Amino acid sequence: MYGFRLGLFLLITTVVTAEVQLQPLNAAVLRGSKARFNCSTTQPPSVMTWMVNGRLVVTILQASEVFNSTDRYSATNFTTPGNYRWEIVISNVQRDDAGEVTCQVLGGAARMATLSVQERGSVEIVGGNQTKTEGAQTEFQCRAVGWFPEPNVSWSVNGVAYSCNTSSVAQGNLFNSSCTLAVTAVKNSSVQCLVKIPALSTPDSNTVFLTVEKLAKRDQTVLIAVTVAFSAAALLFLIIYGIVFFCKRRKKKSSYQEELRRAQIQSQNRTPATENVRGWDNRGYIGDGHDGHANGGVWYTNHSNKHQAPDGFFHDGRRNHRHMTIV
Ligand SMILES: *[C@@H]1O[C@H](CO)[C@@H](O)[C@H](O)[C@H]1NC(C)=O
Ligand SMILES: *[C@@H]1O[C@H](CO)[C@@H](O)[C@H](O)[C@H]1NC(C)=O
Ligand SMILES: *[C@@H]1O[C@H](CO)[C@@H](O)[C@H](O)[C@H]1NC(C)=O
Ligand SMILES: *[C@@H]1O[C@H](CO)[C@@H](O)[C@H](O)[C@H]1NC(C)=O
Ligand SMILES: *[C@@H]1O[C@H](CO)[C@@H](O)[C@H](O)[C@H]1NC(C)=O
Ligand SMILES: *[C@@H]1O[C@H](CO)[C@@H](O)[C@H](O)[C@H]1NC(C)=O
Ligand SMILES: *[C@@H]1O[C@H](CO)[C@@H](O)[C@H](O)[C@H]1NC(C)=O
Ligand SMILES: *[C@@H]1O[C@H](CO)[C@@H](O)[C@H](O)[C@H]1NC(C)=O
Repeated sequence: MYGFRLGLFLLITTVVTAEVQLQPLNAAVLRGSKARFNCSTTQPPSVMTWMVNGRLVVTILQASEVFNSTDRYSATNFTTPGNYRWEIVISNVQRDDAGEVTCQVLGGAARMATLSVQERGSVEIVGGNQTKTEGAQTEFQCRAVGWFPEPNVSWSVNGVAYSCNTSSVAQGNLFNSSCTLAVTAVKNSSVQCLVKIPALSTPDSNTVFLTVEKLAKRDQTVLIAVTVAFSAAALLFLIIYGIVFFCKRRKKKSSYQEELRRAQIQSQNRTPATENVRGWDNRGYIGDGHDGHANGGVWYTNHSNKHQAPDGFFHDGRRNHRHMTIV
């Protein structure tokens, strides 16, 4: 009895002392891909069992026998001397595979790893490529739809990383996340949205381009165009004004001359003949002063007696006109 107990104790001790290792302890894979785990012991295992989420999926017997529950689970022998190692591969991983993966060797402690089954969604930058004028405020919104777990969204503008405040909504097991990047349009840039979950070794991304139109140059051309147009208009106006002014002046001048002439005539009419040399030439001049005006020779009389009008005048009833020629 005692001997049996001792024997059992020894057996248990030796079995329990068998070292069991499971690798990796954490695995994150995309749904539909493969998950791999290695389990190794230092003692030849009489029985090795694999469980996924509490379900027995693979049993390996020392007698070179492998039983698998479905063909989604397979085991490969990687045993080397002193290291009894088996790898199991879970193909086409499903969401219900997520959880605990356990390797147990008879007489050894169970080893447990964690399997995370993740979902890869889509990445979209709302609005796509953008064209902005220089200095304009621009927003880019990145939408990551259908991810699990909640993804880490970040930006890269011309290769420079920007973190962002991701806001997410969950629908069932999936997350929609969005994140907005506000930039000032300074130069042509490539704007990349990066979406990362642990199962992805490299993030998924989407890239759009920000084309910046140079405002200053455009303004300058506009300014130049406006200036030129304005100058041309001003010039045209000046020319027209000049012409009009010139014409007016000429007209004025001629009328002025005429007036001058008239004035001269009048002054000649009013001036006593003695003072008007030209008067001599005038045949209408009568120097005899017969009408009794002072000094005689008065040309023009507009008063009272019509009959006093000198010869050479004709009378129109109101005024006396004198036809004459100036030499
Ligand atoms: C399991 O071990 C084998 C042999 O060392 C190795 O080739 C394989 O990559 C390992 N698998 C995992 C998931 O570590
Ligand atoms: C695993 O491989 C080792 C060495 O190649 C071999 O001795 C052992 O029998 C194999 N075990 C099974 C179950 O195939
Ligand atoms: C698992 O089962 C499938 C069929 O159900 C079989 O083809 C495959 O070889 C098995 N894997 C191992 C490692 O025995
Ligand atoms: C954005 O522009 C790039 C090149 O300029 C082009 O290849 C791409 O198709 C454009 N994307 C969209 C959504 O228009
Ligand atoms: C998200 O990614 C950024 C940059 O790669 C990193 O600094 C940050 O720790 C990540 N956050 C999470 C929650 O993974
Ligand atoms: C994230 O949002 C919080 C609160 O809305 C704000 O205080 C913080 O500055 C934001 N961080 C970034 C990087 O935008
Ligand atoms: C996530 O986005 C998709 C596509 O835009 C939409 O159909 C779905 O309703 C969204 N889910 C949530 C929780 O907003
Ligand atoms: C951006 O690129 C466009 C054409 O690709 C060019 O016309 C424009 O001048 C560029 N803008 C800047 C700020 O370099």
